[in-house]
Amino acid sequence: MEKTVLSIDVGTTNVKASIWNSTGNILASLYTGIGKIQQNVAMVEQDPVELWDKILKTVSDVIEIKKNFRENLIGIGITNQRESVIAWDSETMKPISAIISWQDRRTSKETYAIRKNYGSEVEDISGLVVDPYFSATKIKWILDNIEESRFLHGKGRLRIGTLDSWIVNKLTMGKSYFTDHTNASRTMIMNLRKGSWDENLLSIFSIPEDILPEIRPSSSNFGQVTQKGPLYGKDILSVAGDQQSSIIGMGRVSAGETKITIGTGTFMISSSGKDFRRRKGILSTCLYSDEGGHGNYALEGSSFFSGSLLDYLKQNMFENLKIESVDPYHGSSTPEGCVYFVPALSGLGSPFWDPGATGTIIGIGPSTNWKDISASALRSIAFRINDMICAMQEGDIAGDIWVDGGVSKNLGLMQFISDITGLNLMQAPNPDHVTGRGAANLAFRTLDHHDLAEWTMEKHGRKFTPVLSRENAKDLYSGWLRSLERSWKWHHD
Ligand code: G3P
Repeated sequence: MEKTVLSIDVGTTNVKASIWNSTGNILASLYTGIGKIQQNVAMVEQDPVELWDKILKTVSDVIEIKKNFRENLIGIGITNQRESVIAWDSETMKPISAIISWQDRRTSKETYAIRKNYGSEVEDISGLVVDPYFSATKIKWILDNIEESRFLHGKGRLRIGTLDSWIVNKLTMGKSYFTDHTNASRTMIMNLRKGSWDENLLSIFSIPEDILPEIRPSSSNFGQVTQKGPLYGKDILSVAGDQQSSIIGMGRVSAGETKITIGTGTFMISSSGKDFRRRKGILSTCLYSDEGGHGNYALEGSSFFSGSLLDYLKQNMFENLKIESVDPYHGSSTPEGCVYFVPALSGLGSPFWDPGATGTIIGIGPSTNWKDISASALRSIAFRINDMICAMQEGDIAGDIWVDGGVSKNLGLMQFISDITGLNLMQAPNPDHVTGRGAANLAFRTLDHHDLAEWTMEKHGRKFTPVLSRENAKDLYSGWLRSLERSWKWHHD
């Protein structure tokens, strides 16, 4: 009997369910789109009821594809959008807040104050730069603004966690209240060296520890599903944040191996192995953990608006825009004639960390049209990647960079990134499912302790090598740096 694992990948724009065998081959997959509620310029939420229904529906539908799947299924792997938080009542299991998205900036002002007073301490302990992107200030916002949270806390029934902890808690009908090190390392209240909630950080952010889940290894047993349905009785064998999961899905976990996912945002993760590295403006984070320990580290560069920038243009400006056919080279021969689009629609992430930066389009002339604007939006992805690469040090990135995520299907963009960075890129095969593959890799490891690198993908997609001269690339990038300056600190000073 062929053993299989079901991965549930809860992203920002969709939920994917996929079935994997023990050699890393996909047997079936399905996805369902999920909505986002932009309450105002700073507040981004998702509806937990809609999300939960869609998780259940996608899972049951994929099981329908593989009828004999239930018998072969040895467990479940969960991977999820990170940093987003939700609060619920442990007794009724009902949410008392919306899902506050990782893209939400409502706590920008508070983070400025905390950064000013405790910035280096927080960075040193958590590996993260104080920014509204991370979970801590979102958790505090719930405690301060949702009255029911205080009532429930008084009764010992309040739970606030990242999405993985809520999903595990729901699937086990309240029994398991766990998160894993990769998700916890994105909250800004975990001590990255120790792998546990940190007393100092909890006090800086005024968060009581008793509302938080217990942190467990990513590759370990999180409990049995007790919710009625096709997953009943199956073990949850892994939990990991989606960006860590995608590099694990590629089996590229040795120090220096690097991946970039270009989806809603752009996330570059470079494994540091057992080595805890710090780089200015770049995040240090947990790559994965198992029963042997949490000390597998990575460097990460995060940029918030990538695919979502093009979606924004399509929804609000250019209805007929086809993202796959936007040409990043359009109108880019010189920086003087080039339109630059700084995608700071929700602040700027690595390595600048400016929550007050604003979206900026610069270089518009009398003949600028929608094609120029769309091309500039696509180019911004490559420039943001180069910003991150410039903040890394020699040796942090070894070999070709692997790329996945929906937007990586635009081959022009892949070439443009290679040109601007001067590095070789490799398209990951099946780029939509690499993240689910990572959760499956971790889940099988919980049972058979195999080396994650055994799932290295032998086949890969196209390879891209730089063609543009370094001089031209530097010229274009210098225009980008000038346009960046215009977007900085627009909202708060
Ligand atoms: O840090 C946010 C990231 O985990 C979101 O990933 O794939 O849902 O856009 P994605």
